[in-house]
Parts: sequence; C-alpha cells; structure tokens
Amino acid sequence: MNKRNRKYIYILLALSALLILMTGCYAKKSDKKIIGISAPSNEIQRWALETVQIRDELYKRGYDVITQYASNDVAMQINQIENMIAQGAEVLIIIPVESASLGEAMDMAKEHNIPVISYDMLITNTDAVSYYTTFDNYGVGRIMGEYVRGKLDLDNASRTYNIEFTSGNPGDNNAAYFFNGAKDVLQPYLDNGVLNIVSGQTTFTQCSTPGWSTEKAQHRAENILASFYQDTDVDIWISGSDITSLGIIGALGNSYNGSYPLITGQDCSLLNVKYIMEGKQAMSVFKDPTLLIEATTNMVDEILSGKEVTVNDTETYFNGIKTVPSYLCKPVYIDADNYEDVLISSGFYTKEQLLED
Ligand code: GAL
Repeated sequence: MNKRNRKYIYILLALSALLILMTGCYAKKSDKKIIGISAPSNEIQRWALETVQIRDELYKRGYDVITQYASNDVAMQINQIENMIAQGAEVLIIIPVESASLGEAMDMAKEHNIPVISYDMLITNTDAVSYYTTFDNYGVGRIMGEYVRGKLDLDNASRTYNIEFTSGNPGDNNAAYFFNGAKDVLQPYLDNGVLNIVSGQTTFTQCSTPGWSTEKAQHRAENILASFYQDTDVDIWISGSDITSLGIIGALGNSYNGSYPLITGQDCSLLNVKYIMEGKQAMSVFKDPTLLIEATTNMVDEILSGKEVTVNDTETYFNGIKTVPSYLCKPVYIDADNYEDVLISSGFYTKEQLLED
C-alpha cells in the first residue's frame, strides 16, 4: 500500500470513528423513552397550560416529550400523531380535536403497538385507545344542576324560573355528559313547572355549540334573547363551559335589559373567574389539573414498566367499539364565596392574577 492510499484509509477510519461516536451520542440521547402529547390547540387556556404541565412532569420522570397543537384541524392532528409515531413515541397522550375523527392515526398507533391515553376527551370509534383519564363528566353537569337547585331553593320555590341551556360541541364526547348531568338534576323541576325553558329548545342538539365556539354561543343566545326575552326575564342559563359562558355574557350585554341571570360554567378560566368575582357569572366547575396530570403521568409509568394500570371506572365510557378503562377525577364548583379557598390555596391562580386588569 503506498503512502497516499494509507492516508486515505486513515481519513476513512477517522471518519467512521466520528460516525460511530455520533451515532453513539444519538443512541444515548434516544435512550430516554419518547412520549407524544397531541392537543387540539393552545388557544384554549386549559390545553395550553395542561400540556405544558404534563410535559414538565414527564421530563421530571425521565422521558423525552414531543408536544404538538393542531390548530383545531383534524387532518393536521392526524398528521402530527403519525409524525410522533415515526419519531419513536412509545406512548401517546391525545386530546382529540373531534372525538370520532382520528381513525387513520389510531390505526397507525395500533399497527405499531403504541398505547394511547385519551386525555380528558374520549377518542371514539376505535379500539386503539387503551386508557382514558378524565373527570367525572356526568358529575360536572350534575354539579351545575345541583348548584342551581341549591341557590334558588327549587324544592321550596313559590314562583317559576325561566331557564335556557347552552350545550357544547356535538363532536366532543364529553358535551352530552355535561348536558345530561345538569338536565337530569333539573328535570323534576321542569316537569312540575318550577322551571320553564321559554325558547322551547330542550334537547342537547338544539342547544349545542359546534366547536365550543364563543361566537356561535353568543349568536344563538342573542337570537333567543331577541325572540323570547323582550318582555320577560331569563333567570338561569346553564352553560356547558366557560367558553360558551363568555358568549352568553356577551349576548346579555348586547341584547337584554331584564334582570341578570345565574350563569354556570366550567374550567375556571381566568376571565370567567374575574366575571364570577364581578357577579357576571355565578359559578364554574373546577377540574384541578394536578389531579388529572398525576393520574395520566402515573399511567405512563405503569404502562412502560409493565405494571398494572390504575383505573377506577371500567363501565361508563363505551367509545362505540370498546369500553375504555378510565381513571375519573373528582370535579368541584367555585363561586364568589369560595374561589379564594379553592383556586388560590390550590395554587391554580395567584391573588395578583385575579386582581390584575
Ligand atoms: C371539554 C372539556 C372541558 C372544556 C370543554 C371546552 O371536553 O372537558 O373542560 O374545556 O371541552 O373546551
């Protein structure tokens, strides 16, 4: 071998060593298991905060995390999930844009044997969803109904109260649970005439809000107020979520002169809590994210270490194909009397956050 060839061989050897070293580093980095988090968007306060909290908790527990937001677009979410699978995600935590629309991505997860945890909103029409972590969604609705029953003492009412319902996104499997929970508590009072739905819009579908859109909720509320409440008061408005409550509050400001109704909500979003402090909204259901995040990240650990996965409900959540083993956390309500105790002492908000403009 002449000198020149030897030089080339040395260069080649050096390059291969470098390559091996680089692959070694890469392999070392990817020793950490990757968890994929897929969320509808980061514009809704809940998803923006909770995805970051889940990620940080997973980092603490030694995982790598890929987080993606889908701009509320089903096709984009499918694409993002497929990319997470391609990047080696070993568990997927998914909040679906629409419960029933993740088919293709779920097929791919199944082909690759990747466990899927449906976070808060159930993924339906697939057997590829392994577990579900959420709050007692029917319980959320019941809390709203019980709050109204208690506040207005419906059992001893000497008058009729006018009531309207705004339910959520028909594409969100949770939305009907919220509606039915509240409706079931209030049905006896609708039956005995203590409550009266003046608009006559009584079903989930009639009251629904596609995409949980504030604008759509406002538009529907404005129509109802213009058509039915020019000469009479609306006393109660059951709203499935804080997002829709904002629409109702907007509509009342624009199209109503009567006495102000009791409005429900859910999520304790910052603006809504401020409205509760000002008396524009009566209550909101608080779903303490620390409970849900702990349940979900524990599940990830259990799945990946082959332990038995902790669930507390194996009956409620049939997704059209299978009953998904679930872990349900407990919701509570907040209102003007207890918000400081519940929200500030739990660290969900600081006093300053609630007081700033
Ligand atoms: C639900 C979720 C609620 C609320 C709502 C609107 O499915 O459980 O907490 O955020 O969507 O986004």
